[in-house]
Amino acid sequence: MNLIFLGPPGAGKGTQAKLLSARYEIPQISTGDILRASVREQTPMGSRAKSYMDSGSLVPDEVVVGIVEERLQKEDCKKGFILDGFPRTIAQADSLKVTLDSIGKNIQHVISIAVDNEELLTRITGRRTCEKCGKGYHVSFDPPKTQGKCDVCGGDLCQRDDDKEETMRKRLTVYDLQTEPLIEYYSKQSLLRTVPGTGSIEDIQKSIVKILEATA
Ligand code: AP5
Repeated sequence: MNLIFLGPPGAGKGTQAKLLSARYEIPQISTGDILRASVREQTPMGSRAKSYMDSGSLVPDEVVVGIVEERLQKEDCKKGFILDGFPRTIAQADSLKVTLDSIGKNIQHVISIAVDNEELLTRITGRRTCEKCGKGYHVSFDPPKTQGKCDVCGGDLCQRDDDKEETMRKRLTVYDLQTEPLIEYYSKQSLLRTVPGTGSIEDIQKSIVKILEATA
């Protein structure tokens, strides 16, 4: 099963992709997570990406296209994969098609998660992530058992640099201008299904699984 998750920042792409990844035993490929790891490790790619990410802009297409191209060749993608946060521009989507054609694969589903901007701001400003294992939480909607500590590994929870309100507003504008056109792009290919992203995380997961299993 080869999937794409589309949606604005904070829609729940990462949350839902992680659950599906565990359910179907296929990798979640998050370009945001890969870029953040490169920034932490201070690789040349990380140094290049950092200023774009901090300002809420998209990292240049050629950087992310290269990351995904390489990642999709790995053994664990044979059974399928979940792209979370990629593609984000029409140029990225066109490059993805070329890469997939070259390895004899295609996208079977594009799930767009829809949430209004006010809710997105609440979610993002309350998001916390474990520094050690990367598990995500929300201070009100999905809190850890012990404040500031990860339930799974006991690591410290931190706030992402780009989750401050001003940067978040910029990310929403960037989404509207550069990523939203992909809704029409995939709709025209009859691949797009939109899922309302409000309600419990479990109920949203059930709606997504229903779509995937009805068309499997
Ligand atoms: P990236 O890391 O991809 O961020 P994003 O798309 O902005 O998405 P988020 O991770 O913020 O949100 P999400 O939809 O995954 O929501 P989540 O599940 O965490 O990208 C960061 C940056 O990297 C970009 O700005 C760009 O600079 C660069 N980048 C990445 N990919 C790129 C690309 N392809 N091209 C160019 N640049 C790229 O949920 C959010 C919060 O809400 C959490 O706290 C969660 O617990 C909570 N929550 C989730 N579901 C629910 C629910 N149903 N009810 C209540 N709370 C919920």
